[in-house]
Amino acid sequence: MLAPSPFVAAFLLSLSLSAAAAPQDAPAGLTLPLKKRSPAARTADEWGVWAKAHRVGLESKYGNPHPVRRATGSNLLVNQNGDSSYFGSIAVGTPPQAFNVILDTGSSDLWLADAACTTGCASVPTFAPASSSSFQNKSTAFSITYGSGQAAGALGADVVQMAGFAVQNQVFAVCDEVSDGLLSAPVSGLLGLGFQTIAASGASPLWETLVSGGAWDSPIMAFQLTRFLNDSSAAAEEFGGSFSMGFANTSLYTGDIDYVSMPVQGSYWILPLSDITVQGTAVSLPSGSGAYAAIDTGTTLIGGPAQYVAAIFAQIPGSQAGTGNFESYYTYPCDTEVNVTLSFGGARSWTISPADFQLTRLTRTTCLGAFFELSTGSSAPAWIVGDTFLKNVYSVFRYNPLAVGFAELSATARGLDSADTPVPSATIGSAATVSATATARSTNAAPRARGPSAGLAVVVAVAAAGAALAGVWL
Ligand SMILES: *[C@@H]1O[C@H](CO)[C@@H](O)[C@H](O)[C@H]1NC(C)=O
Ligand SMILES: *[C@@H]1O[C@H](CO)[C@@H](O)[C@H](O)[C@H]1NC(C)=O
Ligand SMILES: *[C@@H]1O[C@H](CO)[C@@H](O)[C@H](O)[C@H]1NC(C)=O
Ligand SMILES: *[C@@H]1O[C@H](CO)[C@@H](O)[C@H](O)[C@H]1NC(C)=O
Repeated sequence: MLAPSPFVAAFLLSLSLSAAAAPQDAPAGLTLPLKKRSPAARTADEWGVWAKAHRVGLESKYGNPHPVRRATGSNLLVNQNGDSSYFGSIAVGTPPQAFNVILDTGSSDLWLADAACTTGCASVPTFAPASSSSFQNKSTAFSITYGSGQAAGALGADVVQMAGFAVQNQVFAVCDEVSDGLLSAPVSGLLGLGFQTIAASGASPLWETLVSGGAWDSPIMAFQLTRFLNDSSAAAEEFGGSFSMGFANTSLYTGDIDYVSMPVQGSYWILPLSDITVQGTAVSLPSGSGAYAAIDTGTTLIGGPAQYVAAIFAQIPGSQAGTGNFESYYTYPCDTEVNVTLSFGGARSWTISPADFQLTRLTRTTCLGAFFELSTGSSAPAWIVGDTFLKNVYSVFRYNPLAVGFAELSATARGLDSADTPVPSATIGSAATVSATATARSTNAAPRARGPSAGLAVVVAVAAAGAALAGVWL
């Protein structure tokens, strides 16, 4: 984690002090210790950024009569442990503390391990609420269960920045109990990019506050995810691609974005999985909600109902259901190049590279497939389509009208797979250009009761060298 630049830290300090000085916010008698700082040397560009951010900050403080200025932002990602997970970075508090977080379209809460975390947080950088002058303790318990584990703690609110956007009073959880293996350093938490309706905290997710507040040029966010799975020289951390808010990066895809309307209102990002082919042969699928698939950046692989996963492997001669730790998985002969296509009722179907289908080599001749049997229960979609698929497309999550779209990756994007691109570190990026205020909610309300699947994230740690399945799904 890199320390934020002094210039940005000073700017945020000034914003928070002006906000705290608003009469309605300051309890009588409260005085704020003001420290005089020697002015930082700024370039003309930095002065420009400062001037704009200062105006935007004041507009939001005094009630901006104009629409919020629209903008775009992007965050470079890190690919962790051979495509197991993809993380980006946010900054929280005053002065801002930068953290790496898994970007998860399959859940809707933001949480960070906190300084008091005792389990599951070894060598993970933690958030120190006491070090943020703008942190507000909501004194409400929080817990969430993912496919891969749990996190529990309490809710608070603070300013959260990402990719040049800032949300004041973002509600998030500071967690002091985290399942072993859920976080892998340097990741400190998770940023949910699903809809508020499934937030265990009940709070509006950062992205939804921004898009519904009109902060984005275009009501979309998009991912390009790199592949290092088949690269035996890959390191534990590699360049992971990018996440963009408010635009789709035209240098990362070619042709049109094939948008498919969501069949239901937002909870997870859901599309109907209408067709699967394996080695050119169609697998028959149900229609209706039995075919709903969550498009989930926070899940490593692709999980689906046992009978359809069995039907996929039935097309691969020599495949076998796994046993022991490999129960719910299948093995197949490594010399078979497996070509699976998925389509979601849009104009076209999308091929999963044989390199992604081959999760790992277990023996010289036996390989583990990337589809596994999953029973999600009634509150979540039947399928979870994770990074095994998403690495093969440019994916676009559209808020209005509600849709998920895919496009062909450009040669530029493909060129980032297995490439020697520097790994980005957690920084807060450029100074805030747009700020939105989270809608005030009844902040002491207990979190809504949730089923066990509030978060889908099933992270499978894939050994970077491809030698073994290093982690077991909890
Ligand atoms: C928030 O308040 C609760 C008590 O209401 C306390 O137990 C908890 O430690 C506080 N959290 C922080 C981060 O200050
Ligand atoms: C990984 O797989 C992709 C897609 O099949 C291929 O283009 C690439 O050359 C492979 N990389 C390595 C290092 O084998
Ligand atoms: C779009 O992607 C290209 C290729 O990775 C990158 O150089 C460029 O900075 C990106 N544009 C924006 C606005 O993020
Ligand atoms: C995979 O199968 C689809 C459908 O049969 C076909 O169009 C595509 O060319 C195949 N891709 C590869 C890499 O073999």
